[in-house]
Amino acid sequence: MPELTPAVAKPDHVPDELVYDFDYHYDAGLIAHGHDRIAEIAREAPAMFWTPRHGGHWVVAAHFAVHAAQRSPEIFSNGPVPYEAIAAYNATQPDDQKALIPLPITVDPPHHDTYRKPLNKTFSPKNMLALKDQIRALAAGLIDRIKDQGHCEFMADVAEPLPTQIFLALFGLPQSKQREYRDLVADHLHDTDMDPRAIQKRLRKVADVMRETILDRQREPKDDVLSLLWQSDFDGRPATLHDIENYAVMLFVAGLDTVMNGMGLGARHLATDPELQRKLRDNPALIAEAAEEILRRYTFTVPPRFVSEDSEFQGVTLKKGEKALMFLPAADLDPGEFQNPEAYTLNRENKAHIAFGTGPHRCLGSHLARIELQVLYEEMVKALPEFRLDPDKPVTFHGGNVIGPDTLHLVWDK
Ligand code: HEM
Repeated sequence: MPELTPAVAKPDHVPDELVYDFDYHYDAGLIAHGHDRIAEIAREAPAMFWTPRHGGHWVVAAHFAVHAAQRSPEIFSNGPVPYEAIAAYNATQPDDQKALIPLPITVDPPHHDTYRKPLNKTFSPKNMLALKDQIRALAAGLIDRIKDQGHCEFMADVAEPLPTQIFLALFGLPQSKQREYRDLVADHLHDTDMDPRAIQKRLRKVADVMRETILDRQREPKDDVLSLLWQSDFDGRPATLHDIENYAVMLFVAGLDTVMNGMGLGARHLATDPELQRKLRDNPALIAEAAEEILRRYTFTVPPRFVSEDSEFQGVTLKKGEKALMFLPAADLDPGEFQNPEAYTLNRENKAHIAFGTGPHRCLGSHLARIELQVLYEEMVKALPEFRLDPDKPVTFHGGNVIGPDTLHLVWDK
């Protein structure tokens, strides 16, 4: 069991009643019980609380507070370093030595819009739907490989390779790069060194693996996302290699880890709910709605923010430079927002979950993510008989900015 980070002293502007001890990486309840611990926080912690772990930071937990905070970028900035400072540094560097910036996720309005606009077209529902058959073939292929063995470790066998293969297909990268990419995913997931130089080194590796294909698509466009990205213009300025690399590393960071953990949480829920599996097998038309309720019940991303000025927010005093986590998983289990939030309920009256966030940074990949998750569940209930958790190998979870199962051992009758 990992140790909690040491608690620091509470600063004077934080009132005692807003202190709640929660280590978002190593909380023992979170690691052992996943979302049951998050539901407890949603029930008992203040709407917005201060925890003494990880140097001391805010956690915005109630649904109304998360909703408002995500729509207040003037208080809650997405970048620890202002975009202007990075852009000024990059202006002095040659293209291949510029700092990589996952755009637009680390940039606040008004610059955010410049980099988000071209992506909205590329990731439109229509463009993503066109990938559905390809995604289905990849999902079916992975499930086919484990079907006859009667068991699998779902994370390694399906949840990691599937989004990796989809990423390669999306970018028109050869599937032969899968091993390289899976190693990059693993490096990215397991490396906790958050020193900006270490992060740059990891992002540079991702960009380097793609460089040849990126340049190739500039010369000779094909029917893939990389070619579409080359058509972007930024308020009249044509795209450069650096822009495309920034997009590529951002999509790698934003799209792989999230989907993999979402798949793990969804498969785990299905494995504990044979009645739901039966319903979905009998009536696959219910899968879209079932996938949405899984996203609400097991919301799993925790985006960070940085307070840009001394401010008051929902009656709470914030100081410039403080870190605040948008605890979306607790917001979607908030009893003030959802009736009986811990129950998994198809046909809920209020279906408006916040799993993809809200405000300017709302997930760009939600159309793609929904297709990936739905197609996976469709293929699982179609190809596998009733599956359940392996009772000898209990699931443990990891915390952090993307919560999910470490391993997920499933079994079924052969
Ligand atoms: C189930 C899977 C996913 C979940 C739950 C998810 C969740 C989120 C959330 C909560 C945000 C907002 C972050 C913030 O407020 O700082 C976000 C942003 C983003 N997501 Fe996703 N995401 C998923 C899959 C994907 C995929 C597959 C892609 C790839 C296309 C993607 C691309 C992005 C991008 C580019 C942003 C930044 C948008 C911006 O800054 O304007 N996501 N995602």
